[in-house]
Amino acid sequence: MDAHTSSPVPEITVILPTLNEAESIGTALATIEQVFSENQIDGEILVVDDRSQDATIAIVREYQKTHPNVQYLVRTTEPGLSRSLLDGFTHARADRILVTDADLQHDVTLIPQFLDALRDHDLVIGSRYMRGGSIEHWAWRRRIISLGATGLGQTLFPGITDPVSGFFALHRSVVEGVTIRGRGYKLSLDILAKGKYRSVTEIPYRFMSRKQGASKLNLSTIREYALQVGELVLYTLNNPTSRVWDEWRRIGRFGVVGATGVGVNWGMYALLAHGLVLAPLGAAVIAIETSIISNFLLNDRWTFQKTDRSIARFLAFQSVSMVGMVVQLAVFSLLVACAGSDNDLLVYPVGILVAFAWNYWGNRRLTWKNLS
Ligand code: GDD
Ligand code: MN
Repeated sequence: MDAHTSSPVPEITVILPTLNEAESIGTALATIEQVFSENQIDGEILVVDDRSQDATIAIVREYQKTHPNVQYLVRTTEPGLSRSLLDGFTHARADRILVTDADLQHDVTLIPQFLDALRDHDLVIGSRYMRGGSIEHWAWRRRIISLGATGLGQTLFPGITDPVSGFFALHRSVVEGVTIRGRGYKLSLDILAKGKYRSVTEIPYRFMSRKQGASKLNLSTIREYALQVGELVLYTLNNPTSRVWDEWRRIGRFGVVGATGVGVNWGMYALLAHGLVLAPLGAAVIAIETSIISNFLLNDRWTFQKTDRSIARFLAFQSVSMVGMVVQLAVFSLLVACAGSDNDLLVYPVGILVAFAWNYWGNRRLTWKNLS
């Protein structure tokens, strides 16, 4: 690699891993350069190649003649996408690093947005699965594989919509001094589990179809991925400080708060419907609202550790809970219709349980989506 170490440190290094991308690399370089110049970004592009057998590197070398901000690295040991990216991190000159692919399936016009987000966050992930994100066209087989991989990743990071994204940006400090083996394809997952970051956020993007060349994903990739997740689960169990625990701790606390809410909710219902002989439906509505308020206060302070007060968060919680209430009432009415109104006290908790799952998911996405 010929480094231009004398020039000042660039604002950002964009890492492009390549394996036989001769058909795409030229367009990728030109497109990223255009994004740099249109947004006055002083950027570096670092191509990390695993000894491509085609003209990939010849094209990069040619392009470099007119664009000295383009660098490349040809690896000779232990090939692999994640390992290439890790090597890229050590050779990147900028403090801020963005990882994308050479086939332009990721939307590189979002580079300025990533830079913006890196002001407030250490790690920024491009997401296909959050609101505003999408996938242009995928064969059903590829979709299922991706959903499986994403779902598996979300068991470790329920707060992240696209934990296996290949499009992400970070401050160098997140990975500096961190030991990552770099098995397989999904480096973002290792970084989420082991990286040193205080805050992480996601940016939606549209994942485009591949225009040239072919995906390098195959069956061994899937096996590698399963092994990678297994490894990370073991790592997490041995490292109570891992970020994975942050989310599980929250779910646990949300559950405990939910349980106190069930007490409030159920007790209130018993009191109103059976003590004061209110109509069951009216009693349930008041009981639910009382528990919504007590749940919000406990979750805001304890589960999500908020120190400020926010009406917006309460309103979001209220909305999610209202939907939860509808869900709960629907399940409740259905079960009462089946089991008879004499069994109302018995079937009541079932509705609460279904509503709990909805409530965590909905509130994590809406009410407490920004956690520092
Ligand atoms: N250096 C190196 N070594 N590069 C590789 C290797 C390798 O072993 N395997 C693949 N690449 C390069 C490809 O040349 C391409 O630029 C990029 O890594 C992504 O490879 P694709 O084969 O095109 O991956 P994909 O489109 O199926 O999936 C991508 O997008 C997903 C969604 O964000 C990847 O980035 C996935 O990790 C990601 O989940
Ligand atoms: Mn691709």
